[in-house]
Amino acid sequence: MKLARYILCLSMMILTSGYSLSVDLSDKSIWVPEHIKAVLDAHSHAIINSIDSMRVPRKKYNDGVWQFDWLPGYYIKYGIERINGRKKIKKCIERYQLDLITVPQKWLYHIKGRPHTLSNDNYIVIAQEIIGESDLPPLTINHMKQFSTIIEKTAYYDLRYSNYKRCKDGTICLIDTEGCFNKQKAAVGYLKLIGPGTDIQKTFTREALEYLFSKIYDWLEYYPERAPSAFARLNKGFEAQPQCSGWDYQPYCYKLLHKFTPTKKELRQAQEKIKRYKKRWG
Ligand SMILES: Nc1ncnc2c1ncn2[C@@H]1O[C@H](COP(=O)(O)OP(=O)(O)O)[C@@H](O)[C@H]1O
Ligand SMILES: [Mg+2]
Repeated sequence: MKLARYILCLSMMILTSGYSLSVDLSDKSIWVPEHIKAVLDAHSHAIINSIDSMRVPRKKYNDGVWQFDWLPGYYIKYGIERINGRKKIKKCIERYQLDLITVPQKWLYHIKGRPHTLSNDNYIVIAQEIIGESDLPPLTINHMKQFSTIIEKTAYYDLRYSNYKRCKDGTICLIDTEGCFNKQKAAVGYLKLIGPGTDIQKTFTREALEYLFSKIYDWLEYYPERAPSAFARLNKGFEAQPQCSGWDYQPYCYKLLHKFTPTKKELRQAQEKIKRYKKRWG
């Protein structure tokens, strides 16, 4: 039994790595422009040092993402699957004419002096730096609808606040397109938008948040067995709020809880938790 599980795990790993490393090298648009390539070639030792540091297990969320003085305006990123992720999202933006979502320019670079076998040791991704704005009006229902198209059509689900930048012109740039694509995790995409790390009141209009909740609601109706983990995430998001929301989103939460929380005990615990947050918020 143990051996069977081991073999299954191993084949999954091989399949996953095979899938993530299948970048279409014949696509000319993925290759870094010559003038940037020249700079990278001149600093290949620094790139190799950074790549070698990835051999040890990743410790922090942004290990594998670097900026260097000699390449202003760009990030160097480990993980060539980011190219595929960007392509998927870009295609979706074009197909559904999403005018509020963008992706940064990302290119592939072959590290000078390394073999040409396609691997994360030999190639890296160069991403255009996006300067985000912090004091912008909250995201609207139109932003949410377009996020929803991304989640539902591409299966991308890593929409935490640190993975997108808000720009002056009202668009949202999805800067992290590393392999977080999974159809089973659509609700996680919506839940990650809520937090932790997101100030709900500042980030969403009431309408936008209602829309977000309605999506979570629909999704849980389809997969009620996932309610406990969804509520655990929601609770984490609520717990991390710096202030009470300007509108009362708790009826929405209750609505979700009443319908989907599987046991009375869990429902009671969740309600008590929410009461505690409310008390703290005054
Ligand atoms: N293109 C970019 N423009 C601006 N900042 C970026 C860009 N790419 C990454 N960053 C910064 O680096 C952090 C980590 O990058 P990310 O692509 O999310 O890496 P990881 O896959 O490790 O989460 C981001 O949260 C952001 O602060
Ligand atoms: Mg990230």
